[in-house]
Amino acid sequence: MTLREAIKNRHSVRKYLPGPIPAECREELENCIQECNEESGLHLQVIYDEPGCFDTLFTKYGMFENVENYIAIVGDKSLKDLACRGGYYGQKIVLRAQQLGLNTCWVGGTFSRGKCSARILPDEKLLCVIAVGYGAEQGVPHKSKPVGKLCGVKRSDMPTWFRNGVAGAMMAPTAMNQQKFFITMEDNEAVITAKKGFLTGLDLGIVQYSFEAASGHACRIQMK
Ligand SMILES: Cc1cc2nc3c(=O)[nH]c(=O)nc-3n(C[C@H](O)[C@H](O)[C@H](O)COP(=O)(O)O)c2cc1C
Repeated sequence: MTLREAIKNRHSVRKYLPGPIPAECREELENCIQECNEESGLHLQVIYDEPGCFDTLFTKYGMFENVENYIAIVGDKSLKDLACRGGYYGQKIVLRAQQLGLNTCWVGGTFSRGKCSARILPDEKLLCVIAVGYGAEQGVPHKSKPVGKLCGVKRSDMPTWFRNGVAGAMMAPTAMNQQKFFITMEDNEAVITAKKGFLTGLDLGIVQYSFEAASGHACRIQMK
């Protein structure tokens, strides 16, 4: 599965099949996480076979089922771009997981921080977690804002790489599907802007990685 296919096939999955993730798959996931940690300086971690973190009211109301594994997005509090960085590398792991046949769901609120088994050092912060496992379903595509609300470039003026990037960004997960970002082009470079708001830093990093993976071009982000 190519990265573009992974972007298209990925949807939030909240119900999982019980049972462990096999060793070969764990190794691939861990390699990806290690690579991300080396590149980013973050302390991303995967926790397996640990249902406690999702043993909350939200599971009892049927929102989540059989979440036994999760990735914790952890990093140094002093990093100014911690949230964007967490989003960027978290989404890299999400798409790798999709390529491995796994399903995921970013979770910023509906999990138990107290029962999260991640190792968080004194200077670090847990931003959110990502549920991971074999889905009992594959999820459904989210409803997107129209392209005109998310991008300032006319379709006829978009180079192919930029159009692919915008399509990738539109398919990216955002908290509560808020899609609070705007893509423009400056000197042949894509620039994604977001206003400060609830979880918009994480969202911006997620959208940046999705744009880059879909377009094959680096893009710049700015938080206003
Ligand atoms: C930063 C972030 C936090 C999220 N937090 C939650 C959450 O607490 N509970 C939940 O059920 N879904 C959560 N989601 C999933 C979003 O609701 C979902 O990504 C969005 O509705 C788009 O749907 P899709 O992922 O299927 O494309 C979160 C997503 C992101 C990116």
